[in-house]
Amino acid sequence: MGLFSSFWVTFTLLALQVCAGCNAATCNDTETFAAGLLHESMDWMDMYYDNARGYLFSLNAAALTHDTRASVWYAVGLLARNKADDVEQAVRIVKNVIWAQFTNESAQWFGDYQIYPEEPTVGTEQYPAVIYNSWDPNWRGFIGTTFVVMLEEFPQLIPRDVQDYMLESLYNSTIGDSYRVGGVDDDNLYPAYSNPSIMRAFMSGWVGRRTNDSNMTVAGEQYAKQIIDLFTRENTLSEFNSGTYAGVSLFALTLWAKYMPGSSVMGEYGPQMIRDTWTVLGSLYNANLKNVAGPWDRAYGFDMNRYLSILALQIWTLVGKEAAPINSKPYAMGHKNDFAIGPLISILAPYHNTLVPANTLSSLLSFPDSHFVRTSAFSPPYDTYPRNITAYLSPNLTIGAESFSENVVGGPSINSRSFNPAVAQWKRSDGSVGWLSLYAEVQALDVHVGEDFLELAYPRGNATSRFTFLVGTNGWYGKRDVGGWDDVEGVQVAVSGSVSMNYMVTFSGLHGGAGEVINEFEFWNFTYGMPEESSEVPHVRLEFEVV
Ligand SMILES: *[C@@H]1O[C@H](CO)[C@@H](O)[C@H](O)[C@H]1NC(C)=O
Ligand SMILES: *[C@@H]1O[C@H](CO)[C@@H](O)[C@H](O)[C@H]1NC(C)=O
Ligand SMILES: *[C@@H]1O[C@H](CO)[C@@H](O)[C@H](O)[C@H]1NC(C)=O
Ligand SMILES: *[C@@H]1O[C@H](CO)[C@@H](O)[C@H](O)[C@H]1NC(C)=O
Ligand SMILES: *[C@@H]1O[C@H](CO)[C@@H](O)[C@H](O)[C@H]1NC(C)=O
Ligand SMILES: *[C@@H]1O[C@H](CO)[C@@H](O)[C@H](O)[C@H]1NC(C)=O
Ligand SMILES: *[C@@H]1O[C@H](CO)[C@@H](O)[C@H](O)[C@H]1NC(C)=O
Ligand SMILES: *[C@@H]1O[C@H](CO)[C@@H](O)[C@H](O)[C@H]1NC(C)=O
Ligand SMILES: *[C@@H]1O[C@H](CO)[C@@H](O)[C@H](O)[C@H]1NC(C)=O
Repeated sequence: MGLFSSFWVTFTLLALQVCAGCNAATCNDTETFAAGLLHESMDWMDMYYDNARGYLFSLNAAALTHDTRASVWYAVGLLARNKADDVEQAVRIVKNVIWAQFTNESAQWFGDYQIYPEEPTVGTEQYPAVIYNSWDPNWRGFIGTTFVVMLEEFPQLIPRDVQDYMLESLYNSTIGDSYRVGGVDDDNLYPAYSNPSIMRAFMSGWVGRRTNDSNMTVAGEQYAKQIIDLFTRENTLSEFNSGTYAGVSLFALTLWAKYMPGSSVMGEYGPQMIRDTWTVLGSLYNANLKNVAGPWDRAYGFDMNRYLSILALQIWTLVGKEAAPINSKPYAMGHKNDFAIGPLISILAPYHNTLVPANTLSSLLSFPDSHFVRTSAFSPPYDTYPRNITAYLSPNLTIGAESFSENVVGGPSINSRSFNPAVAQWKRSDGSVGWLSLYAEVQALDVHVGEDFLELAYPRGNATSRFTFLVGTNGWYGKRDVGGWDDVEGVQVAVSGSVSMNYMVTFSGLHGGAGEVINEFEFWNFTYGMPEESSEVPHVRLEFEVV
């Protein structure tokens, strides 16, 4: 990759000529698409670069504070672009970030990186160390893997002493990451927490090899083996099917596949795990709706056309921006800050995309015949049994749900706002997507999905149970006010079951209503309680007809 940057430019010009007039299905456009993603995400981040400080300003425009992780993602894009003083700025950012890395070996956050350079000292009386709050353990992986991509792809651009500094930083980061044990000190890093666990195994394996630390190398292999054992149970990631984290896991598996030798279990299994992950994602993708059907273990939105998912960036590099679930103005979408990972996705696309099966590529462009998908995923120690997943996809309606029996509410990430165990989406006449999602309030759910229905039961429920469905707002020309199912655009829903038929509808809006938005999405809250003193198992059946 010695001539990487001129390679981009040359190839882009070439590809534009060659591909003029042919559509994405008929020509290999990975390089063109990936170059487009690189340029668009970099153009956007350029506006946030603070040249005085050598950091990116916070993408939330938070009173001119800065952001460490986005700065590093920007820096790898600077190396890939390599124009004007790009390389000089990239090196500056890297040095700034490492200079501020945590160096106290006794602290739980040793080897981690600051969230932002203005932050007070983590672990002081006034700024207590609160995991996932004042410090984020996953940033070792996010920032560390970005350093590895820099060292692997652009070594000729980085001065020798800076490379050594990066390796020292990576070593500390990997040691610090080894402090993480699920269930200890409020940490939740189990092998089933797919996205950071895949990054952890990789960092340990890669840094161990680079520094000749065989313990570190072996630790990486052993951790990877646990991830692989979980995966090969049914060829699914434990952290299943979410636009954001499936994208991170695919990124991290690409590091396994591309940078680990065949003698490593990561090098051995990585490529097949990428193929298998895409196979199930492709079977759950509805190209008419430009959405992956539910269930989603961890989603940051309810319609991929309206929030920016990392998976959508990968789809962009596969089929082009127009065909991907990406708005023409990505930075106006929900969860837009993830656009900052664009350079990394772009740089790895030429390799990663060779592992995407042809069937999957075709299902990203056009919807095949209606079909069921049945599979399972397993997240110990939260799941008693594997979660059983069923989805039915038809041209204008998808229904997807999972049965589970867990020791927590809100899925393995213990977050009801991101765990979406039962979802339906439909196409509306204006082309936009309607959706509903069961709000997760129970530890156990049994589901039955058919061609036009969704049945849900709470096996451990009782007369106090309720089913809350978050229902998306209508389209631009649709009714602004919703009092019942008749007002929901694009679908007719008939409800039956042991629930009381007197349901409540409230609104959770950006500027008012009964509650707050979830993941930046406004919604109507349809809640069904049980008849008083009911002794039946709480269950509800929704029948759908797209109209
Ligand atoms: C697309 O091009 C890349 C690099 O030129 C190549 O490795 C890859 O196999 C091609 N993909 C397809 C589907 O032809
Ligand atoms: C290092 O961290 C430990 C554990 O949190 C703490 O007791 C100690 O005071 C810290 N040392 C310094 C120099 O901050
Ligand atoms: C790595 O950690 C050691 C303490 O173990 C510290 O002395 C050193 O400065 C750290 N290196 C970097 C790059 O932070
Ligand atoms: C690791 O070992 C190799 C081969 O013995 C050697 O070339 C290399 O310099 C060593 N690297 C480090 C960081 O010690
Ligand atoms: C590897 O682990 C062994 C046993 O714990 C220890 O004796 C050795 O010093 C370690 N090696 C390195 C390079 O850390
Ligand atoms: C799906 O909706 C489109 C309009 O968006 C319509 O033309 C088509 O007939 C519908 N397909 C089915 C199977 O209902
Ligand atoms: C999923 O299906 C398997 C096989 O039928 C069953 O053993 C398991 O209990 C089911 N899981 C749940 C959560 O219902
Ligand atoms: C009904 O379920 C709720 C939630 O699990 C529980 O708190 C409550 O004690 C149960 N009530 C009865 C009568 O079992
Ligand atoms: C849905 O509405 C019910 C009241 O009808 C309320 O108690 C509940 O908190 C709401 N749920 C959400 C997720 O907003």
